[in-house]
Amino acid sequence: MFGSGWNETDVPDLDGVTAVVTGANSGIGYEATRTLADHGATVVMGCRSVSRGADAVSSIRDATPSGTLDVRELDLADLDSVASFATVVNEAYDGLDLLVNNAGVMAIPYEETADGFEYQVGVNHVGHFALTGRLLEGLRAGAGVPGSAADARGPSRVVTVSSALHERGDTDFDAVEGGDGVANDYDRWTAYGRSKLANLFFAYELDRRLATAGASVRSFACHPGYADTNLQARGPEADGSRVKRLAMRAANALFAQPAAAGALPTVYAATAPDLSGGEFVGPGGLFGMRGAPEVTESNELSLDREAATELWERSEAWTGVAYDLPEAR
Ligand SMILES: NC(=O)c1ccc[n+]([C@@H]2O[C@H](COP(=O)([O-])OP(=O)(O)OC[C@H]3O[C@@H](n4cnc5c(N)ncnc54)[C@H](OP(=O)(O)O)[C@@H]3O)[C@@H](O)[C@H]2O)c1
Repeated sequence: MFGSGWNETDVPDLDGVTAVVTGANSGIGYEATRTLADHGATVVMGCRSVSRGADAVSSIRDATPSGTLDVRELDLADLDSVASFATVVNEAYDGLDLLVNNAGVMAIPYEETADGFEYQVGVNHVGHFALTGRLLEGLRAGAGVPGSAADARGPSRVVTVSSALHERGDTDFDAVEGGDGVANDYDRWTAYGRSKLANLFFAYELDRRLATAGASVRSFACHPGYADTNLQARGPEADGSRVKRLAMRAANALFAQPAAAGALPTVYAATAPDLSGGEFVGPGGLFGMRGAPEVTESNELSLDREAATELWERSEAWTGVAYDLPEAR
């Protein structure tokens, strides 16, 4: 037995909890959505394809009749789409209790978002930065997720899904801004690592700012270890490489844990009552790649507050979304 032994049966009753999950139609997002719904939550599924979202709803409905599922269009590679999604959600729901920043792409060829950002950091970090800022008021108005006392609700939560590959990331924030120079120097794994390091800078800095503000919202980070999802196929697909695609599939079959197990750190960060804010949750087993979730550690660079502040300020400028939060103490 690895890690805490915590599993889906330990998730508290989520009746009355309203959650938003990005990338909810596939992999970790799909499994997290299924689990949250199975425990009674209402889940707004932010999907870039509404039809793939609807397919996911029918499949979740085969697994559980519980919870309410609401598919809404969200393309994190387009800040106008992020703004429209947030408007729709803010109008439809009086308060939000949970936001899971999960959607992501990995190691794809160079591309830019609609707003000109390098695509991996653009989707994985910039889009989620804008989304969280636009949903913050709703989260502050939420009743929160169940707390440690059986009859009490704790703070609302923002959970951002990072990766063990944050260790490959750097603080070259100029490279986020795209353009010919960035395209020429592009290394797809460095860009992915940069996006996942940015997820950690954001999650930790958000928690510090929320705590300084005394807000009834806290922020957490997590990573799924190595889980068998569609993530690994995207790069080879974009390259049109059948050989690389088959190699990725074979590696997944041999070494990855199922997507449902990979979603447990996300669900733990979203619902476990013994967390207070700012923790990083990952699988507790073999090399942090599989097993039951537990609080773990990210690398030294991810804890650099100066870099986190710089990324925060640049993200506000990039997105035009200014958070109503004081600088962290
Ligand atoms: N699987 C792993 O081993 C692993 C390891 C470390 C970290 N992670 C992280 O886990 C998260 C979930 O990935 P996954 O493994 O579940 O991969 P996945 O099965 O490929 O799911 C990714 C989700 O993100 C969505 N997405 C991609 N681009 C988007 C965009 N522009 N706007 C909105 N949604 C978009 C995808 O939508 P479509 O279905 O429409 O493409 C899909 O729903 C990612 O943040 C990833 O970095 C995964």
